[in-house]
Amino acid sequence: MTNNILTNSNLHFVKRQLYLEQVSLTKLADECGTPAYVYSKHEIEKNWQAFDRAFSKLPHQVCYAVKACSNIAILNLLAKLGSGFDVVSGGELERVRKAGGDTSKIVFSGIGKQRWEIKAALQAGIACFNVESASELRLIEHLASELECVVPVAIRINPDVDAETHPHISTGMQHNKFGVDMNQAVALYETIRQSPFLQECGIGCHIGSQIVSLEPYSRALSVLLDLANRLRDSGLKINHIDIGGGFGICYQSETPPSAEDYAETIMQVMGEHSYQLILEPGRFIVGNAGLLLTKVLYLKQAHNKHFAIVDAAMNDLLRPALYNAWHHIVPLETHHGEAQNYDIVGPVCESADTFAYDRPLNLYEGDYIALLSAGAYSFSMSSNYNTRTRAVEVIVDDKDFHIIRLRESMQDLIETECLLP
Ligand code: LLP
Repeated sequence: MTNNILTNSNLHFVKRQLYLEQVSLTKLADECGTPAYVYSKHEIEKNWQAFDRAFSKLPHQVCYAVKACSNIAILNLLAKLGSGFDVVSGGELERVRKAGGDTSKIVFSGIGKQRWEIKAALQAGIACFNVESASELRLIEHLASELECVVPVAIRINPDVDAETHPHISTGMQHNKFGVDMNQAVALYETIRQSPFLQECGIGCHIGSQIVSLEPYSRALSVLLDLANRLRDSGLKINHIDIGGGFGICYQSETPPSAEDYAETIMQVMGEHSYQLILEPGRFIVGNAGLLLTKVLYLKQAHNKHFAIVDAAMNDLLRPALYNAWHHIVPLETHHGEAQNYDIVGPVCESADTFAYDRPLNLYEGDYIALLSAGAYSFSMSSNYNTRTRAVEVIVDDKDFHIIRLRESMQDLIETECLLP
């Protein structure tokens, strides 16, 4: 096994056993059971700090995208480092509050903000609403007038830039549902100028996720900068530019830019213009800091296929089924002997419940395996499909580990359901 597939610098083998930081993952799996999500505290902190440091030459605020991994223990770690947060729902706002996050460093994105969510964010005193339509702006204004407050708003621009990523997670092109075009944006800033309840504070975009090239960022930022300058010239107070998230990581063999590369590109386009930069990384911070532990239940042969049936399933990790995403698969203990090509599948009743095809592995029933790069959009996208309880979440911290979310019980699952009277 070459080291370069271990996409997390805190993951390593000691005498043929896989360790995260100084914790044997076999021991952890024995104690916590499987499937289990496991995160490295130091890797998360290292990633956030590296990202923040890369932009240190510019006034900036990193607002971690909560949707990537929203466990409150992780939000609390990031809050302690000084992170702000990008939220897309009242639920995520509540999580940040529970985690002790600074609500004055929250930006609220999303195209379908509801009345109660806007109210909650107004009352929490967030930094900025990233507004995505004329109707949303009207509702925010109305609620602000009811609460007699002045709301900081930024318009999310759709810069019509191809992020060159999977179509499901590309968000900055004309046909996408996100943001508003330039002309509409100018009109919305006029509405803001006229309103006693709205205060412009910046301008933003988010063009997609798992972006591994730099050009889309320079193109999008050029569009935003041009508009921001025009708005400033017209007398509006545009203090920040929010470039969104999307910073890619290595899952398989991608060579994404480093945090410094992203920062360098962005700083070049920014030139001498003085705006605060807001950045909304999610995956970059947690993606490679987490993994999913699962146990091989059965090995099965059919025709010329070998299946390893594991106790995790598409309800735990949806990315392979939804995006055909690749995750490295690493046995926790390596055996001597020959590898076999396995399809790694879960117990859910769909053929889409396949984590990987034809992986050369040497497996036995009862073995534990780890699916790597499962820190982002993994637990947070899990469900109860097939009435499966959601996995336990655990953080490793040097030689200790802590459960940060209990495995769901069957009781948790069905207690809110009832029979007809
Ligand atoms: N800001 C906004 C407004 C977003 O919608 C997102 C992600 C981010 C920031 C953070 O993007 P990141 O830095 O994590 O790429 N489920 C997909 C990814 C969906 C991303 C949705 N929006 C996946 O598993 O690949």
